[in-house]
Amino acid sequence: PESNLYLFPQIDSTNQWLLDQIKTGLNNPVVCMAEYQSSGRGRRGRTWVSPFGVNLYFSLSYLFKGGISSLSGLSLAVGVVVSEVLESYGYMDIKLKWPNDLFWQDKKLSGVLIEVAGDLTEHCWVVVGIGLNINMGACTASSDINQPWSDLNMLSNHFGVDQPTRNELLSQLISALFVLLENFEKNKFGSYRERWMKRDYFDSLKVEAYEGGKKITGSARGVDSHGHLLIESKGVIKSFGGSDVSLRGG
Ligand code: BTN
Repeated sequence: PESNLYLFPQIDSTNQWLLDQIKTGLNNPVVCMAEYQSSGRGRRGRTWVSPFGVNLYFSLSYLFKGGISSLSGLSLAVGVVVSEVLESYGYMDIKLKWPNDLFWQDKKLSGVLIEVAGDLTEHCWVVVGIGLNINMGACTASSDINQPWSDLNMLSNHFGVDQPTRNELLSQLISALFVLLENFEKNKFGSYRERWMKRDYFDSLKVEAYEGGKKITGSARGVDSHGHLLIESKGVIKSFGGSDVSLRGG
């Protein structure tokens, strides 16, 4: 039988590899992991700097029976589950920044990129890609990152935690993420909302959101049961769900 786990020393992007396989026919589910990505990508067309051998870059594909609308909030739930796996090792105070970044002490630790394929009406293939900085500080590529970053090494030092191996961490993450995907298909984002809210990076802070070139200023009020961002502005709470929304601390 065909393997469901692919490990590459190098690849363009683990998300792209899975999207390509989906086109040519794929068993369900599949995990793809690489030691190096030449075109690792982030959200909004950004690059995910992916030096060799020091971090985790992996993607999972999963065939969702619902259409694309049933995926609302999935990226947030992925953030919750990755944080919970890290917390189980003693890494605390990880914050989730809407829609899908993991931060520690205001520095980005991990990013999630969800892409979809298939007919998108009745069922769709979901590719969940995760980049987790583990020993980013060990390489010069870290200077190419244009925002403050953290890595698991920093957290291990801070919390006095014996760092798990990348293999160990990867296997825990994969198991937890497949549990999530099955559960999400049945129960949607609702069961993850509280767990997301208690890690909300922007909790009650002033934020600026941009949607279609329009700027909205207000106080962050977490997310609703669809995972849409809530911002209170002039006493009114508005929700933002679009993928064209960008957000920053005001
Ligand atoms: C972001 O923060 O913008 C999302 C970053 C996602 C990076 C991961 S690394 C594994 C997978 N393959 C990619 O090309 N991107 C994701």
